Amino acid sequence: MLFNVAAVRQDFPALSQSVNNHPLVYLDSAASAQKPLQVIERESEFTLHQYAAVHRGIHTLSANATTMMEDVRQKAADFIHASSNEEIIFVKGTTEAINLVANSFGRKYLREGDNIVITEMEHHANIVPWFMLAEEIDFEIRVLPITDDGRLELSQLEQLIDSNTRLLSFTHISNVLGTVNPVKDIIKQARQIAATKNSQLCVLVDGAQGAMHQQIDVQSLDCDFYTFSGHKLYGPTGIGILYGKKALLDEMPPWEGGGAMIRKVSLTKGITFADAPWRFEAGTPNVSAIIGLGAAFDYLNVLGLKEAFAHEAEVMAYASQKLQEIPSLILYGNENREGVLAFNLGHHHAYDVGSFLDQYGIAIRTGHHCALPLMERYNVPAMCRASVGIYTTKEDIDSLFNALQRIKKLLG
Ligand SMILES: Cc1ncc(COP(=O)(O)O)c(C=O)c1O
Repeated sequence: MLFNVAAVRQDFPALSQSVNNHPLVYLDSAASAQKPLQVIERESEFTLHQYAAVHRGIHTLSANATTMMEDVRQKAADFIHASSNEEIIFVKGTTEAINLVANSFGRKYLREGDNIVITEMEHHANIVPWFMLAEEIDFEIRVLPITDDGRLELSQLEQLIDSNTRLLSFTHISNVLGTVNPVKDIIKQARQIAATKNSQLCVLVDGAQGAMHQQIDVQSLDCDFYTFSGHKLYGPTGIGILYGKKALLDEMPPWEGGGAMIRKVSLTKGITFADAPWRFEAGTPNVSAIIGLGAAFDYLNVLGLKEAFAHEAEVMAYASQKLQEIPSLILYGNENREGVLAFNLGHHHAYDVGSFLDQYGIAIRTGHHCALPLMERYNVPAMCRASVGIYTTKEDIDSLFNALQRIKKLLG
């Protein structure tokens, strides 16, 4: 299938607007992607005509909405090649997914004296929940460092994983550096080390950036958990997926209590919980967003993930080459990057650069990107980050390049 980026852009009405009297150049998809009409219209149709609360409703609308929601569970399973839809938990997003794992898996399996391994390139979503839990359970958080050019120091896994290591939790693609971590190899290596040290290691992969740039096969990766957010995948905000291996989910306790996650509640005889994955979905789910997420899966499947990602890779290669032509621009990371380019323009603060770019209608992200440990590692307060999606063109990159040249002249 030929990938026609001009046609794809027609699906995204937000892209054809002007900002500050310039055609919008949207280079902030890593923060949140724009939504195609197909997603917006499906969600709207559901809300207009099919809306009802799900779960055990006896009336037709409710029963239909429940069926539609469960269909999306299957679509999510297919999208990441999970072996069953019972391995798919609907969450608000990656942040909630990791909090769920910390509070359910973490509270059940982590004990004083245990340790977990995260990395220096994690988003706060994969740091803070663990530190919060470690305040209560005295386990150690070990950190796999990165090289100056933004690769994981994988040789250090051997010394970090020991018999008390219960979890390795790391990002698929760095939201700052764009580094694509060799997830499959890392998991294989970690499991081999764990086996020699008799550790009961589980692995969580933060796929917030991964799922938007790579085809995911959780069975082939052999991760225990994989998570991503709908809003970065051209779907709605407020919905995401946590994949967990069924056998593991079956052992994990619920983390939030309420409606829809129970089997029986008696004030005198106690409470029993629903099976996984439903026991992790307390309360009324964001069903409109779930339906929208289903439409996002459909949209991407029709478009062809292979073709879309190949297009992105081409734009990324072009962007790295162009940005490196700008003298004094510091590009972080290495050539093995996908989706994002982090840079600073000489000594100028990222906020200044970002504000100037905005005047030209160019939307990038500036700041610490919820990765303060990485800013510390590179000894900078902030970085600029341009990120691409399936609709990004080489012309977008040219606009960024030209504007950066102008800003350089202005700021010196
Ligand atoms: C690598 C990574 N992890 C986690 C998150 C958190 O995702 P969300 O805010 O959708 O929960 C993000 C968001 O930028 C991210 O890039």
